[in-house]
Amino acid sequence: MHAVNFDAETIKNRFEDLKKSLSDLSFTGYPLDYQRVDQKTVPVIDRLDVFQNKTVLEIGSNFGMYSLLMSSIAKEVHAVEIDKHLYSVSLRWRDFFADADNSFSNVHFHNEGAMATGKYEYNALLLTLVLYHLNNDEIDYLIEQARAKCDTVLIQCRPARILAKEKGAFRGHVSKNTRFDGLCDIAANVRFLREIGMKDISIYVSENLLGEEAFPVLIGKK
Ligand SMILES: C[S@@+](CC[C@H](N)C(=O)[O-])C[C@H]1O[C@@H](n2cnc3c(N)ncnc32)[C@H](O)[C@@H]1O
Repeated sequence: MHAVNFDAETIKNRFEDLKKSLSDLSFTGYPLDYQRVDQKTVPVIDRLDVFQNKTVLEIGSNFGMYSLLMSSIAKEVHAVEIDKHLYSVSLRWRDFFADADNSFSNVHFHNEGAMATGKYEYNALLLTLVLYHLNNDEIDYLIEQARAKCDTVLIQCRPARILAKEKGAFRGHVSKNTRFDGLCDIAANVRFLREIGMKDISIYVSENLLGEEAFPVLIGKK
């Protein structure tokens, strides 16, 4: 059964209780409110309807917020997350929001990395803030798979990663890959979308910044 009663409003209304329900967890890296309804995620949430009736692969699903939100929109969702702690939080999110009418049965969470995704049938991809986390082999594999399987792709990128590095205000990898200039900015992601056969590309940049950063959304269709 599809999750007709689960949307961003539900997440907002129940967010404090959700966080309380996760307070037994301790891990580092991402704070418990990393995925929430805010200036960064609303531009994605508002466009998840491009996945109407699609079979979607989400790579780097984190706490699973977008995959759960796609339950009422998509036909089926495979969400892969390489980090076992984040994966286990996504199961806890799912159980927290599941109820008698809605078990998110069309959303499948997997604790694995991008190289394991070839086994899934999908015709659409959700790639938010993740392409610069993938290495060259993962990007090359994704390109090969997406070209063959996909007709719709939504990417959220992070141009300010590069700017922060230039200003010396960023530590760590700007990008783990060297493909398309590391896939942080809009132009690089447009080239990636073209490479996987997307002909009709739209770009959305919200004026509502988060921490002075814009988080552009690109949608590619074949
Ligand atoms: C910056 S976060 C973005 C999370 C989420 N997509 C979002 O927009 O809120 C990157 C996520 O990708 C995951 N990740 C990193 N490398 C990955 C890989 N090789 N395969 C799958 N997931 C990966 C991280 O653990 C993390 O959850």
